[in-house]
Amino acid sequence: MRIGNLDIGEKLIVAPMADISDAPFRKLCKEFGAGVVFTQMVSADGVKNANFETLRLLTYHKSEKPIGVQLLGKDPVILGTAVKELRKINPDWIDLNCGCPVSKVVNSGMGAGILENPKLLASLIKAMKENSGDIPVTIKIRLGRNRANINVLENCKIAEENGAAAVIIHARTREERYEMHADWEWIKIVKENISIPVIGNGSVFSPSDAVRMKKETGCDGVLVARGVIGNPFLFERYNKLVETGIDPGIPEAEKVKKTCLKHVELLFREYGEIAALDRAKKTIIWYFRHLNGIDKLLDRIFSIKDKVQLFDYIEEHSEEISLGNFSDEIVSEIDKKFKDRIVFWKSE
Ligand SMILES: Cc1cc2nc3c(=O)[nH]c(=O)nc-3n(C[C@H](O)[C@H](O)[C@H](O)COP(=O)(O)O)c2cc1C
Repeated sequence: MRIGNLDIGEKLIVAPMADISDAPFRKLCKEFGAGVVFTQMVSADGVKNANFETLRLLTYHKSEKPIGVQLLGKDPVILGTAVKELRKINPDWIDLNCGCPVSKVVNSGMGAGILENPKLLASLIKAMKENSGDIPVTIKIRLGRNRANINVLENCKIAEENGAAAVIIHARTREERYEMHADWEWIKIVKENISIPVIGNGSVFSPSDAVRMKKETGCDGVLVARGVIGNPFLFERYNKLVETGIDPGIPEAEKVKKTCLKHVELLFREYGEIAALDRAKKTIIWYFRHLNGIDKLLDRIFSIKDKVQLFDYIEEHSEEISLGNFSDEIVSEIDKKFKDRIVFWKSE
């Protein structure tokens, strides 16, 4: 797939995820074969005003390229200025968030609040495009406000007419948030009715899901979010599946441990020991969630007080897994228990 000048080939794209898509996460995604990563969403106002925290979120290493930036905004002049500013840091892709369902964002007319305002959508894309030079501009969009108000096709046509290089469709409505299985049928409908590339998103948790989404919808690319949290292995598995027709499957515990330790070490370097500790615990849970013993891990990990204890504990837990000390559970059961006990994405 090509988006403007950017050639992504068959590879998967990593979604922008607030609080998740930091430099350590992006580094691991890239190392395991992701096509493009995104920095965390930033506000157009923050970029325009060179807000310190905004600029920190936009910092990336050249090894992370190609890399995208996602903007949140609702004012064409501010978005245009922000895009012009962004050119100084040379991202490969700039996206407009039209899907964030958080009430505070929607009520102020941003994120999914844009979905019901086609004139505004047109002016935002136009302003971004006029200021983006060679950098492709896209929108990441939901199906509509709710099932009774699906307008994704109309909005994607507006994107095409106003110069968007591609559209990313998160195949849920604003009111559906994240709960139900994404409705891929709408990705297919849009693909059949516009000429710019269509990137599908929603409910891709395994390499075969990504292949199936492409096959069932005809979409040009796939953007993954929750499925790669604590699971950069998905990229490697997907690339192998495309190349050879065989998915190597969930990696063994030793590889999960090594990758997790590397990720956690990067977190300590990025945030410092105290600020990184909670983030590191969540990251460990995400990595080990597909393996036997996740129950035990959830019981123990929150009482750990420092980095040394944490690293010792990961070694100890992995050793128990390899000795077969945890009961043999099937992955779907572990996954269910995990989802019941840990909400691993943001809620309002
Ligand atoms: C923790 C978290 C943070 C997210 N932050 C953003 C964001 O900043 N911008 C955005 O467009 N979508 C964001 N999303 C939505 C995802 O990009 C994606 O559209 C959604 O999770 C559906 O894909 P999935 O079913 O593969 O998870 C976020 C999702 C999660 C779980």
